[in-house]
Amino acid sequence: MLHIKYTYKYMASRIPLKYWCSQVCSRLYSNGSKIIEIGGKKYQPDGNFTNVTPSMISLTGRSLHLKDRHPVGILRDAIENKLNSTDNAFLAYNTYKPVVSTYENFDSLGFPKDHPGRSKSDTYYVNSKYLLRTHTSAHELECFAKAKSGETNKPGFLISADVYRRDEIDRTHYPVFHQMEGCRIWNRDNTAYTSNVEPGHITKMREDLKKLEQQLHQQQTKVVVEDDTSLDGNPKQNYMTDLEVDLCSKHLKRSIELVISDVFHRKLESLRKTNKDASEIPTELQVRWIKAYFPWTAPSWEIEVWWQGEWLELCGCGLVQEDVLKKAGYAPDSTISWAFGLGLDRIAMLLFEIPDIRLFWTQDERFQKQFQKGIINTFKPYSKYPSTMRDVAFWLPQTENVEKIHENDLMEIVRNAAGDLVESVKLVDEFVHPKSGKKSLCYRINYQSMDRNLTNNEINALQEEVRNELSRKYNVHLR
Ligand code: PHE
Repeated sequence: MLHIKYTYKYMASRIPLKYWCSQVCSRLYSNGSKIIEIGGKKYQPDGNFTNVTPSMISLTGRSLHLKDRHPVGILRDAIENKLNSTDNAFLAYNTYKPVVSTYENFDSLGFPKDHPGRSKSDTYYVNSKYLLRTHTSAHELECFAKAKSGETNKPGFLISADVYRRDEIDRTHYPVFHQMEGCRIWNRDNTAYTSNVEPGHITKMREDLKKLEQQLHQQQTKVVVEDDTSLDGNPKQNYMTDLEVDLCSKHLKRSIELVISDVFHRKLESLRKTNKDASEIPTELQVRWIKAYFPWTAPSWEIEVWWQGEWLELCGCGLVQEDVLKKAGYAPDSTISWAFGLGLDRIAMLLFEIPDIRLFWTQDERFQKQFQKGIINTFKPYSKYPSTMRDVAFWLPQTENVEKIHENDLMEIVRNAAGDLVESVKLVDEFVHPKSGKKSLCYRINYQSMDRNLTNNEINALQEEVRNELSRKYNVHLR
């Protein structure tokens, strides 16, 4: 089944594993002479940073979230509509370009300099200053600044976009996926604290929350919530009162619960229609809130949904650090805000029953013609083409003092050679030679096209390319 990992990637506890050693790092643009062009803009590569590859650049203009007949676009639209159905509070920004600065992606949000999310093994760098955004939070500061400047007259915004992370290859992971960021803002009525009257923003927050709760109450599929409201180990910010924290976090959590109950309701309904034994389809949805850590929110949480026998993590969120609001131009103590980041692809896979995430990227009409604007239907697999396994085994170089490389580098080599013709890459064997102390790894590459039969010759050529690149770039000894 699907497992969600994108939202916890930025938690402090996550330390990158699977480092090996090698003398050379994967640098397609390492000679520094080729100019990189992305979305019509030119960038100077940097030998020490650049790891974005031509195959990734070719994916940057697809904007699946804007296609109204694509599962990701249909879901994005449904969630926007649901969030705006309460009080039409959110302005949607959906066309931000994927190249952002390291300041926007990390520094503006308070990521420490040594945060694992910044590593080259996880992130596609264009050069030392620019990268392919790894999350939609990269645009938070800019959108907060727009809200502050009065350029928009809405108390909230949504940002949907494609985001990029170096990762493993399998049916639920793809180096590009889509997120929706949501933020809501209340301006504090500071004057009222001196009198006995309730401050205006507190009254407003209560009203806004009440509307949400009423709406949740009317949802046909009820959510049964296990809420972790204690702030032990998940402290609030000093500038906020307990009451503000309570109201703001409730508003955040109920907003996300509303989206989840709506989206999953549609799925449960369609299951009820197609299943012989409809009594087996749950009538309620179990969700739980878990404490989390993100550098730019406090307190922070994640929500998980119990779906087909496992907990799925769907979304990270929290109350925005005042520092971010101040950087956006808000005066100290003037503003209260929440933010969330929701992964769209995993939810779309589950709703539309898409068995392999690569299908989202296929240009095959048999996929594309199955979807219609505004409708969540079940995907009908058109055929499954045979798959072919090939192993690649190698000894890691033993030399000390060499640059570390990562399993994701191997994934990148496979992706560059074979693109979407690979279904998965898995480590199947690992051992250390008892006498020489040398380490050997064996990876199994499963070749399978979504659209056609692959010939043996074709697969052999791809496999050869993977082997050659591995030994050329990483100095491994092929077995
Ligand atoms: N950007 C975070 C992620 O990708 C999710 C998030 C968004 C968390 C907004 C808190 C606030 O994991």
